Amino acid sequence: MKAKKKIIITIDGWSSCGKSTLAKQLGQALGYLYIDSGAMYRAITLYFLRNHIDWTDISEVKAALKNITLKFAYNESSEKSEIYLNDENVEYVIRDLVIAEKVSDVAAIKEVREFAVAQQQKMGKDKGIIMDGRDIGTVVFPKAELKIFMTADNAIRVERRFKELYEKNPNITIEEVKNNLEMRDYIDSHREVSPLKKAEDAVILDNTRLTEEEQLQKALNWVKEKCSE
Ligand code: DC
Repeated sequence: MKAKKKIIITIDGWSSCGKSTLAKQLGQALGYLYIDSGAMYRAITLYFLRNHIDWTDISEVKAALKNITLKFAYNESSEKSEIYLNDENVEYVIRDLVIAEKVSDVAAIKEVREFAVAQQQKMGKDKGIIMDGRDIGTVVFPKAELKIFMTADNAIRVERRFKELYEKNPNITIEEVKNNLEMRDYIDSHREVSPLKKAEDAVILDNTRLTEEEQLQKALNWVKEKCSE
């Protein structure tokens, strides 16, 4: 379905409820650019960890951000835009639990958010974009035509993330994954700056009992409605 009118689609929601799967499939179906905003916070966290930045010290954070360049480039084989930190492809290293354990703290820093949001807004200037994250419909693109807020039962989310991480690291336990998701959801939804919350005009997509195909169809129907308005 290649609609003529290009819109902005935002997908926000809790960790591991399938935002990126839906966003990627929507991108392919519509011929839209898909940007994973969480990858930006993860890449910044990777930089801070590698360079031993004390992120409780704002002057260190500000100086470090000056040395960070983030960009996305489409990879034909993974069929998604992958993130580059200072010209290094870090799309896969940033998925590690070591990063997941720290990223919510880094993403709660005002200066870090301003740095990321300014770049995200530039990427959406020509529309035809799907961006997923936590504050995309509320802060990054408050005027987006279609805002989706995704959710799923906790047990399902833990199971999905566990399967994903277990493939790379068979030593990982379900407890570790559960604790990490709970911790991130808590920090992400309670932080002072741009906490995770549903935009008033967002539609809710609970995919606990939906297949990927069913959730895609639901979202495509919403796109159709918005594009014909
Ligand atoms: O979507 P993800 O799990 O890759 O996101 C990693 C972290 O980054 C997540 O714990 C919250 C944060 N994040 C955010 O604060 N704002 C966004 N727009 C995207 C992610």
